[in-house]
Parts: sequence; C-alpha cells; structure tokens
Amino acid sequence: MSGTGATTKAPNWVALREDDGRAYLVNNVPGEVKIKGLGRFDASALLEGFSLGDRITVGQKSLTIVEAALPEARRNMNRRAQTIGIKDSGFLISWMGIGAGSRVLEGGHGSAGLAMNLANVMSSEGCLISVENRPEHAEVGRGNMERMSEFSAEFPSWNLLEMDLQNAASEVAAICGELDAAILDLAEPWTVVSEISQTLRIGGRIACYCPTTGQLEKSWNKVEEEGLVVEFAGEIIERRWAKAGRGGVRPGNQPMGHTAFLLIAAKIATIEEE
Ligand SMILES: C[S@@+](CC[C@H](N)C(=O)[O-])C[C@H]1O[C@@H](n2cnc3c(N)ncnc32)[C@H](O)[C@@H]1O
Repeated sequence: MSGTGATTKAPNWVALREDDGRAYLVNNVPGEVKIKGLGRFDASALLEGFSLGDRITVGQKSLTIVEAALPEARRNMNRRAQTIGIKDSGFLISWMGIGAGSRVLEGGHGSAGLAMNLANVMSSEGCLISVENRPEHAEVGRGNMERMSEFSAEFPSWNLLEMDLQNAASEVAAICGELDAAILDLAEPWTVVSEISQTLRIGGRIACYCPTTGQLEKSWNKVEEEGLVVEFAGEIIERRWAKAGRGGVRPGNQPMGHTAFLLIAAKIATIEEE
C-alpha cells in the first residue's frame, strides 16, 4: 500500500501554459530538472524575477506562467491505461454527491485520470482509496497523484491498494470506514460488485463505467441482484462547437465519440420479511 496523508499547503508548483492550452508543470525549487517538451533547466533560476501571469520564453516556446491546477495537471499527466475524462468524471462526481469530506473508492486506478478529478473536490477532510492490480499501471497513477498532492492547496488522505478489487472490502473498511461512493472502471465490473457494495453505507452509491452495452447489461443485472437500486443508466454526450471559416459558429467537425455508458446505483435498507 502507498499513499499520501491529507494536506493543506502553499504550493511551489506553477504551470507554464502554451497559448493552445498545452501545459507543463514546474516545481519552483533549485536544481536542474528535465521537463518533457521543454528540455532541461534549473526551475528556480528560470523563474526568478517572474510572477504568476507573466509571459516567459523557454527555448523556442513563449509561455504564460499560471497556477498549477487540475486542467494543467490533466494536460501534463503520464498515461498508460485509458483514462476517464472530465465529461464523465464531472457527471459522476455531481450525481454521486462527492465533495468535501467524502469517503470514496475508485478502481481500477490505471493512470489516475478519475482519481485526480476526485482528489480535486474532496478537500483535506476526504478519504480516497484507489485499487489497482497491475503494478505497472499503479506506478503511473501513483506518480500523477503524488505530483498533484504537491501542488494542491487541499488534498484528501489517499491510499493506493495494489491488489484485486475482488478482495479489497476489508482493507477499504479498515482505512475509510463505510464509503459514500465507489466507482468501478475495469473490464468486468460485475465481478467485483458484491465485494465492493459491502463497503458502502446505506444511501451510498456505486457506479460502473461501461464502454460496451454488454458490460452495461451485466453490471445492471448484478447491482440489482445485490439489492441496489439503479438511479441512472446512460451516457453523456459532448458536442463541441467551433467558429466557421466564413463567420458564425456551428458544431465542430470532430465526431462526438462514445466513451462509456454510466450506471449509478444506490444502496438501500434491506426489506424485512413479514
Ligand atoms: C481503464 S483502466 C482505469 C483508468 C482509470 N479509471 C483512469 O481514469 O485513469 C482499468 C484498470 O483496471 C485495472 N483492473 C482490472 N481488473 C482489476 C481488478 N480486478 N482489481 C483491480 N484493478 C483491476 C487494470 O489493470 C487497469 O489499470
């Protein structure tokens, strides 16, 4: 197991932003660093005399110095497994009522795309557990989360369990107690629903992230078999607009792009037999 204690601090980190939104996170401390896309430099020497909001030149690039925050971290994160994007994580966070002080499990952790969005809203009062059974994925996710914990003004208590979700319930309960929410993003979510639903408080919610209809149907059947009540099943469609060449604005040319079906179910009190 690895993780970080909850933190509240003044960060040294800044983001160097290209005009198109690409960003590079830089820790403003003495010593040479190598930043992919920017090269090698001493960050504190480079940034000396500059403030947030200034424009700075690094190599051939003209960049704006901005606060390091979630959007910059997402643009700059290391990726291995497919990540859950903001379209879906934003909806899950809101529907499931995740916020300051929540107790949340997410797995598989993968590259921490979802976990970073969760940590961003949970405050230093929150308890976040990530579960990942592939060490090479855990390593990438851990790196992204540890870096985010360094620049976040508030970061929840975070534990990464390197184990199978099928056996995680007792460890999860020992760390966070009963959970408010659990989000499952793995190929076969229905195989871990029984185990993970044990960790939820009554009224807590479980979500399954299901790229295919087969995954959605199996997960749906399983949560109902476990006595949970489905509150939402469906997908979130994002349609971006663009400026047209000859004036006006219109839907962009890029395809909508399916990501996944979301299934959200709530744990209710068991019905007593007469
Ligand atoms: C699509 S990735 C998760 C991406 C992550 N949610 C994100 O937003 O970056 C799925 C992950 O689940 C992990 N996984 C699959 N089955 C698992 C299991 N039974 N227990 C724990 N992790 C599992 C895989 O190794 C993989 O890293």
